[in-house]
Amino acid sequence: MRVRLQDPVDLDAFRREARQLLANGVPPDHVEWSDGTQGSGGAELFGDAPAGGLGLFSDEPAAPPAPAGAARQPVPASFLALCADVILHRDPGRLALMYRLLWRLAHEPSLRHDPLDADMLRAGLMAKAVRRDIHKMRAFVRFTRVEGEQGERHVAWFEPDHRIVEANAPFFSRRFAQMQWAILTPERCVAWDGQALTFRDGADRRERPPPDAGEQLWLTYYENIFNPARLKLAMMRREMPVRYWHNLPEAALIQPLADAAQARSQSMIDAPATPARRIRAPLPLHLLPADRAAPASLDELRAVTHACRDCPIGALATQAVCGEGPVGAQRMLVGEQPGDQEDLAGRPFVGPAGQLLDRAMAQLGRPRDTVYLANAVKHFKYELRGKRRIHKTAAQREAEACAHWLDSEIALVQPRALVALGATAARALLGRPVAVQAERGAWLHERADGRPVFVTLHPSALLRLPDAERAAAYDSWLADLYGAFESPLGDSGRIQPAAARVLVP
Ligand code: URA
Repeated sequence: MRVRLQDPVDLDAFRREARQLLANGVPPDHVEWSDGTQGSGGAELFGDAPAGGLGLFSDEPAAPPAPAGAARQPVPASFLALCADVILHRDPGRLALMYRLLWRLAHEPSLRHDPLDADMLRAGLMAKAVRRDIHKMRAFVRFTRVEGEQGERHVAWFEPDHRIVEANAPFFSRRFAQMQWAILTPERCVAWDGQALTFRDGADRRERPPPDAGEQLWLTYYENIFNPARLKLAMMRREMPVRYWHNLPEAALIQPLADAAQARSQSMIDAPATPARRIRAPLPLHLLPADRAAPASLDELRAVTHACRDCPIGALATQAVCGEGPVGAQRMLVGEQPGDQEDLAGRPFVGPAGQLLDRAMAQLGRPRDTVYLANAVKHFKYELRGKRRIHKTAAQREAEACAHWLDSEIALVQPRALVALGATAARALLGRPVAVQAERGAWLHERADGRPVFVTLHPSALLRLPDAERAAAYDSWLADLYGAFESPLGDSGRIQPAAARVLVP
């Protein structure tokens, strides 16, 4: 029997053919499978296969019937899931392997309980390689903006190891639903016009778009977040295999940054500790309001938070760090607490997390000075390790002691809506524990003052991710932030009831 699939990743076609072969009792070694693609030797395996489709045809004597009385076992559902991955593998022997396994599962009841079976192991390794390739495509596709007759499009060039373009395309259409984009690969291309995915044959490397301005921004960012003290080249190569490097703009920076890493780490170790400076002198205590009446101005808020000793953190910090930005801003973005650099500068979000936030806001066309940036906790909590002050998350009772200062800040700034960056901010704004991953990306209407709250990740969560995961996580964070600047109101213009959630597109 010779069986040819017209489309090398058409699992339904494979199932139809395999089911028919099995029903006819055709054993695996009587079937030759082909998928119409070029073999490694360059010749198509069945050049004379019928045009126009899937064909099961025989030009050989009929196969012997299945052994009389051999009871066929139902095939486990997990086998179908396995095949859905294996069929995407580039190995020309995968179809034969899948049919052999199907045959054996139907005739050898013990196979499903044999974890060491060579066919099962081989299929498992193929499925794993395919899933890894899918993941790498999600992490390493880099779009470039291209202006064309039909407006702006984002185009990426990628070289997958396996035939994963169709299987991965829905992920990209969900993630970049608002963009018009195309991903070109040597074997298959996919495009999204905002409504539907379309596929076409592969592209030539020369169709790859030239670098755009965004690429330079990305490189500057990459250079800035590169931490020489945390460089682990072997791990980096494992997560970001070298074969992807030629399509990754940031790869050109890795070697020079790695070469300089040791010297940079050494100079960090040799540098004297940054002295903590008191930048803004505290107001003399007698000028502070004696009662706990809410401060009447942002200046007064600064003074009273500076002197606050309602919890022990204040005594350790250089100064309190209140928010900054325009009063009456449409959005107040709330972080966790000032970090080392914010504590020294007396301003929120000026360290690495702040720079990442600035970059995202600029990309969204919402520069930092159009929003009010604040923190849930007003003092920097840290632990001294040698000369370094290492951030420590505030304990819940410390965050609670600080919550009324944030409420005062909101009352003074009067933002239209609030954006919680991370779990501490979300809890401070919603008054309950919040699982950020589960609740991110939606407007929540739970506050007594009626202000909607949008929850997303804190930028430091992205900085802590391994390099290989950061790009994809950054994209989805950007999508969240985009949603945080959309209207939290329904079409009626009225705040929606608490149960209603406006999901990010
Ligand atoms: N992280 C925060 O939550 N706030 C800052 O101001 C800086 C870093």
